[in-house]
Amino acid sequence: MYVRHLQVGSFRSWERVDLALRPGPTVFVGRNGEGKTNLVEAVGYLATMSSHRVSSDAPLVRHGAAQAVVRAALRRDDREMLVEVEINPGRANRVRVNRAPLPRPRELLGLVRTVLFAPEDLALIRGDPTERRRFLDELLATRTPRLAGVRSDYERVLKQRNALLKTARMARGKAIETLDVWDGHLTDLGGQLLEARLRLVSDLAPYLAQAYASVAGEGAAVAALGYASTVPAAGDGAPPAADASVPSAAELTAAMRERVAERRGDELDRGVTLVGPHRDDMVIHLGSAPAKGFASHGESWSLALALKLATFALLRADGEDPILVLDDVFATLDAERRAALAAVARSAEQTLITAAVLEDVPAELRGVRVQVGGGSATVLDEGALDEGVFDETVPDDRLGDAG
Ligand SMILES: Nc1ncnc2c1ncn2[C@@H]1O[C@H](COP(=O)(O)OP(=O)(O)OP(=O)(O)O)[C@@H](O)[C@H]1O
Ligand SMILES: [Mg+2]
Repeated sequence: MYVRHLQVGSFRSWERVDLALRPGPTVFVGRNGEGKTNLVEAVGYLATMSSHRVSSDAPLVRHGAAQAVVRAALRRDDREMLVEVEINPGRANRVRVNRAPLPRPRELLGLVRTVLFAPEDLALIRGDPTERRRFLDELLATRTPRLAGVRSDYERVLKQRNALLKTARMARGKAIETLDVWDGHLTDLGGQLLEARLRLVSDLAPYLAQAYASVAGEGAAVAALGYASTVPAAGDGAPPAADASVPSAAELTAAMRERVAERRGDELDRGVTLVGPHRDDMVIHLGSAPAKGFASHGESWSLALALKLATFALLRADGEDPILVLDDVFATLDAERRAALAAVARSAEQTLITAAVLEDVPAELRGVRVQVGGGSATVLDEGALDEGVFDETVPDDRLGDAG
């Protein structure tokens, strides 16, 4: 798929941008702080409804504005799709697809697919488990939108169960019966989430091994994936055997239920839920050691890149190229890694690249450029581009109420 036209209003540093884009590689070039990353962040937001740089939405809205809007006309399977999101920090977003409002903003997930590689991705290798859980769950929601619902139901049940654990410490008895009910909900949803994550890890692992080999070159150690779970049956972090099968959701629910029962005493003491996918981690291995704590800086960076290239390959194998977004990454790569990334970037249906220095971007990707600076973004490219797909009658930073 590709973005044919992008418009943002009151997003980050941008008051308004209106850009016609085309398939193939496009480089956003301009000095530091001019708003290049802000533009690709807007595209990424359409895919995940979150930013790769901040965990809340408030920083995405331009200082002084109440809300931001991101609109994109996309081409998918030769069909046109118009996606509009009004970002309302602290309140529900409003989303329209082909001008029809979505009852729940979450229903947008899976429609726009991007794979974004940015300096922040080093945290996938070196950061907390939270980073890797988020990576897995975002990819799950993209590939299987239903799981975004399972995930948010799980979060809701978890919150309620935690609240109950805190009061149950004081008043055992009645509260314990209620706890049993919540255990049922938690483990039912938890089993579904665990199964989905385990399948994803197993789907991704071969692509990761392949991508790491192509990025790190001959003779490099082999990259592998494991899942480390608070539910022993769901994995201890070691890469599973090649012929291992993923347990069913029902089996995982039963295993989780058992583990929850074992840990109930500790949970009551501490007032938090200690068992479940919200406490798990994906373990990235390099050779015989886990990457976290062992891999060098260069190896970690290569692993982060390989993980994103593996994601791209997996989504491509699902049937359609996601939009590849490369934020400020070429300058930090050596020649070999740059070439490996350039090969994928060239082959993708659309690649959006940001760079402060054009020469850092491999020559074969520099064809179409967007010059970013002074509060505007201008396409430097001959040839006609598609224009005029948006309704001009609504304010730029709001979605209209009609339709
Ligand atoms: N909510 C906001 N309102 C106004 N300005 C913002 C907001 N959020 C970020 N900015 C501004 O956007 C600028 C950063 O933009 P961005 O990260 O896109 O830069 P960049 O062109 O990618 O730079 P670099 O080359 O350094 O990566 C900063 O000057 C920052 O102050
Ligand atoms: Mg940037």
